[in-house]
Amino acid sequence: MSTRIGIDPEPSHRSAGAAEAIRHHYDAGNDFFALWLDPSMTYSGALRQESDRDDGDDTLEAAQERKLRFHLAAVRADRAQRLLDIGCGWGSTLERFAALPGARHAVGLTLSDAQAEYIRSRAPRGVEVRIQDWKDYAPSARFDAIISIGAFEHFARPEDTPADKIELYRDFFTRCRSWLADGGTMSLQTIAYGNMRRESASRFFQQEIFPDADLPRLTEVTAALDGVFEIQSMRNDRLDYAWTCEQWARRLRWRRSDAVRLVGPEVVARYERYLKMSALGFRMGKICLLRMVLEPYKDGYFAGREGRPA
Ligand SMILES: C[S@@+](CC[C@H](N)C(=O)[O-])C[C@H]1O[C@@H](n2cnc3c(N)ncnc32)[C@H](O)[C@@H]1O
Repeated sequence: MSTRIGIDPEPSHRSAGAAEAIRHHYDAGNDFFALWLDPSMTYSGALRQESDRDDGDDTLEAAQERKLRFHLAAVRADRAQRLLDIGCGWGSTLERFAALPGARHAVGLTLSDAQAEYIRSRAPRGVEVRIQDWKDYAPSARFDAIISIGAFEHFARPEDTPADKIELYRDFFTRCRSWLADGGTMSLQTIAYGNMRRESASRFFQQEIFPDADLPRLTEVTAALDGVFEIQSMRNDRLDYAWTCEQWARRLRWRRSDAVRLVGPEVVARYERYLKMSALGFRMGKICLLRMVLEPYKDGYFAGREGRPA
């Protein structure tokens, strides 16, 4: 089982700010998140069964497992030996990949020390977790599959112009493209602006919950993908994310006194407000949830092979 590590360049100035912003969010600690996430500690929109969308039979646990299976199937993980998870959280995707018979090596990138410690303590077979921004990552070998769930929304900053954002996202996709082996696939999940202007984004989110971050617009994502990846499929599951936030809020309510003991009443109130506002935003279509399966263009005008690992 390979665990070769590439030479890491010095972290960029921008990465230092991103790491700080992510830490701010995860400073609340693993125990706090464990109170209201499902047991797999998956922290992103779940996937509901079509038949459950109208009635209430689904559970958060089942819907998160379904979501993880969706992304693993999208990248044909059963045929992959090496997987990269950009923004691996507490490692639920990595663990499920590591359990597949053909899996040999999985790399997870996170900016959170607490998440990395959690994954390392569980020591899934063949999994390497790195506290590293994708901008500073230099793999030594290519991957058969890349999954990125719930990280893309942290990449851009509120002060970036739309052109800056497209350039940044294009840099991300170009690197991912260059890290994929021939025949490899990428599966991306991200929240995006829907029926709302960026200027109307709540200061509360940008200052209190995810400082220094700005969501993408679909047009920015597609402009950044142009000529790099072909969109094989795309779905908007915003109501699934609204339901996920409502489930999280319900679980936090059940464990409220434990949560207050762990992080204090102000932090709990902040999270309650964030989950309520997010659920509402998804229900109203102000924000949406994109799940995109991406295949590199075989030919065409992609010219980003520089820095591609051997
Ligand atoms: C909302 S969590 C989602 C975690 C996981 N994918 C899941 O679905 O449970 C976002 C993750 O993205 C990571 N992240 C955000 N920006 C990143 C960046 N620039 N480079 C690497 N990881 C990043 C965070 O550290 C965190 O692990």
